[in-house]
Amino acid sequence: MHLSLTTSIAFSLTLASFITCLPRTSPAMAKRASPTPMVFAHYMLIMQPKNGDYTADINLAKEAGIDAFAVNYGGWNVDWTQHEAQLEKFYKTAEQLGFHLFLSIDTTSVKDTDMIINLSNKYAGSSAQLKVAGSILLSSFQTDPPAWNWKTDVVDKINSPVLLLPGTLSDDATALFSDNNIPGAGPFTWIHPSATPEKEHSTDLALASQRDRTGKLWMAGIAPWFFTHLNPDKNWAHAQDDQIFVDRWASLLTLKPNFIEIITWNDWSESSYISPPADASSPGTTDAYWGSADHTAFRAMSKVFIKAFKAGQDDVVAVDAADEGVYMFYRRQPASAVGTSDPLPLPSDAGYLKDAIFVVTLLSAPAEVTLVSGDAASVAWTAPAGLQKKSYPWSLGTQVLRAKRGDQVVADKVGAAVVARLDKYDGNVVAF
Ligand SMILES: *[C@@H]1O[C@H](CO)[C@@H](O)[C@H](O)[C@H]1NC(C)=O
Repeated sequence: MHLSLTTSIAFSLTLASFITCLPRTSPAMAKRASPTPMVFAHYMLIMQPKNGDYTADINLAKEAGIDAFAVNYGGWNVDWTQHEAQLEKFYKTAEQLGFHLFLSIDTTSVKDTDMIINLSNKYAGSSAQLKVAGSILLSSFQTDPPAWNWKTDVVDKINSPVLLLPGTLSDDATALFSDNNIPGAGPFTWIHPSATPEKEHSTDLALASQRDRTGKLWMAGIAPWFFTHLNPDKNWAHAQDDQIFVDRWASLLTLKPNFIEIITWNDWSESSYISPPADASSPGTTDAYWGSADHTAFRAMSKVFIKAFKAGQDDVVAVDAADEGVYMFYRRQPASAVGTSDPLPLPSDAGYLKDAIFVVTLLSAPAEVTLVSGDAASVAWTAPAGLQKKSYPWSLGTQVLRAKRGDQVVADKVGAAVVARLDKYDGNVVAF
């Protein structure tokens, strides 16, 4: 195993080489009244917050500029009575805190359209129900199209106007925006499993272009990370590795989906969370030891990207002083090191992962940044105002990141050690 113990030559990932510019929206389209851009976060109701209290999550989401939680309703072996009670408590808490929710039906487990219709009717009048121009928002998580027709079997039977944004894993932009396939307002596109950054980007370009051509809406999903290692059938990393989040946020700022949904808020079992890490008592996390990694940076960065997105910026041109930050994220072990006492093989797509430390600066003004990776010599550079992402091959040991502007300390962070091998494989990252 080659561990790059001595290499500390910097290479900078150039966002511009990956992100190409799309033609601007045509004048005809620009005249069309369109909803205000909003950002949501996908909330796994089956992964309960500590003591079943949604207050902390709602406050953190508000602080990040998130407009609503898309509540993932359903899941394997769900106790529906308990699930319904949890949803009720979520809506009540959101009402009290002046926050918004909408249903994202998990069609891999919800099989009864009456359940969707009843819940939609029940919460349509709640002050916490997210509405767009008077219509309740309704979305879904789907791996395959459900057995029903969303319009005739569901939307037409709900007692209030509905803005439907059904989820999909398809990357066929033309089909997704055709009338027959999406009877509602437009697709909510999840991250595509195994899609490389280049493939995901070309799909995004096609989706944006079909959105412009049809005048429908597009809700894009964006994930901070994806990794799971539960059993032989659910053991994967993601081919987009470090480019899955920051690079794609930069790209989506230029493509301007109508809405963005962060996937997810709290799916610790798939490493796709921007919430605090799993609490030991959280359901569904017993085997997901990787869900305890700090993802604070992903939520902090989201705040800046969300502001830029809502302001219609093509780029993170300016970062408010109160929001600036210097972050790093990395796996705590080499991508190809199988655990010493791990019954599972390497996750799929592990071959795409880089043994590197990724540094993201979101600054209001330039700052001097220093990185010390393990026992390697330190590297230092001047980071510009705005967004920069850099990558350095790491050395085993503690990771230290500092940033200064004159006498002002902008960041002073010491992160968990990178080790040659763990007991059990960990493809999640620490991000702080
Ligand atoms: C939906 O509501 C109707 C009318 O109250 C009721 O008869 C039915 O059992 C409900 N179905 C579900 C799945 O909640």
